[in-house]
Amino acid sequence: MKKNIASARITTQSSKLLKELNDSLPFDKLLYAEDIQGSLAHAFMLASKGIISNEDYALIEKGLKEILAEIEDGTFSLDRDDEDIHMAIEGYLTSKIGDAGKRLHTARSRNDQVALDFRLYVQKNSLLLAKLLLKNIKTLVDIASKHTTTLLPGMTHLQHAQPINFGYHMMAYASMFKRDYERFMSSYERNNYSPLGCAALAGTPHLIDRDMTANRLGFKEPTLNCLDTVSDRDFALEILFNIATMMMHISRLSEELILWSSSEFGWITLDDRHATGSSIMPQKKNPDIPELLRGKTGRVNGNLIGLLTVMKGLPLAYNKDMQEDKEGVFDSVKTATLSLKVLNEMMSLMRVNSENMQKACMVGHLSATDLADYLVKKLGMPFRDAYHTVGNLVNLAQEAGVDISELTLEQLRSIEPQIDEDIVGILDNRNSMNARTSKGGTATIRVSEQIDTIKEWLDKQGEYK
Ligand code: ARG
Repeated sequence: MKKNIASARITTQSSKLLKELNDSLPFDKLLYAEDIQGSLAHAFMLASKGIISNEDYALIEKGLKEILAEIEDGTFSLDRDDEDIHMAIEGYLTSKIGDAGKRLHTARSRNDQVALDFRLYVQKNSLLLAKLLLKNIKTLVDIASKHTTTLLPGMTHLQHAQPINFGYHMMAYASMFKRDYERFMSSYERNNYSPLGCAALAGTPHLIDRDMTANRLGFKEPTLNCLDTVSDRDFALEILFNIATMMMHISRLSEELILWSSSEFGWITLDDRHATGSSIMPQKKNPDIPELLRGKTGRVNGNLIGLLTVMKGLPLAYNKDMQEDKEGVFDSVKTATLSLKVLNEMMSLMRVNSENMQKACMVGHLSATDLADYLVKKLGMPFRDAYHTVGNLVNLAQEAGVDISELTLEQLRSIEPQIDEDIVGILDNRNSMNARTSKGGTATIRVSEQIDTIKEWLDKQGEYK
């Protein structure tokens, strides 16, 4: 019978069904590079502390590097019978270099090994996703810079509300993605501590140096408490939450792109590279890409809830339930990476139909609030009275079949005789937009400031570029 290297007391061959349920190699093989990276640091430390000999270390180092190359060029296939990536690599190493391979696992358990590998993976991908977010923010800023005077109806309840410019709308998404970026980076900092050396749960009597391995692996320092460390999957939950929130933002943008590209709006045109046809209706151009981005938000939400649920009842320390931590994270990372790449390409090539946006501003009496503000400022009318007066004027415009900005002075005076000639221009949508000069507002000068602020901020993110 083949000896199971991870089980000293079990003498019967595992049942096929047990293996099907228990083995994680089919998915955790994705962690091969992190596993080798961790083992190299661990073996180096063991040798420096005299726990293994330098000769053994030399063999382990050479063997692990060979294995890495063989996995990458396909000579060593990970489609094998081993329980997980840790056993597959250790087993193959031992078959290559003999007893030295069996010394690698001194002062280590798979519990700290898997916590390390998975954390390295999450840390690496947090930075990669953050970098992709920066690209998307840059693209949004580029679009915004070209459209600080492009009028469109700002909405609430999906009803026309007040005139804004398209640059302002794009900068809203840039601000959301900036927060997403900051979330990935702060999770990175918070979790930048090394689990290696925690062993099974209680630490180890071997005189190891956790600071040395933490340092070699790029962590700030070792984690504080080993019992917590081997039980902790907060870092995985954080990346799942960060991805879910970011995908929720992408989904809201996608929803708007879908609406805006419909015939009813016609505000944008997606490039043909990002649209598909129908198998029956020859005229169709469908926004499948934003629809899929919106749809994929469902699965990343599911992955977050899935892991929260796995973790919620677990006693300390490691429990096999925790092996369920990986597939959801792998799936969310893959989904988020692709989504950010696609979104960036689609946004860069999208056409903005400024004229249609501007035309839409003539529907919905967008400058009604400006008229109320005029009555407040000019006549000292209490805002609530002004609000009702303008309501009557909106009804008048509605009956006349015109926008409020098109009412003549006479018509305006028929409801409020104190309205003066100086009202001319105030109801114009462009003036209305530019009147909103309060900090963070939609006036072109304010949007240009927002663009400058984000550009300066982007320049400062250099260290992770
Ligand atoms: N494959 C396992 C996992 O992904 C590795 C840890 C196993 N530890 C243990 N004590 N069985 O969680």
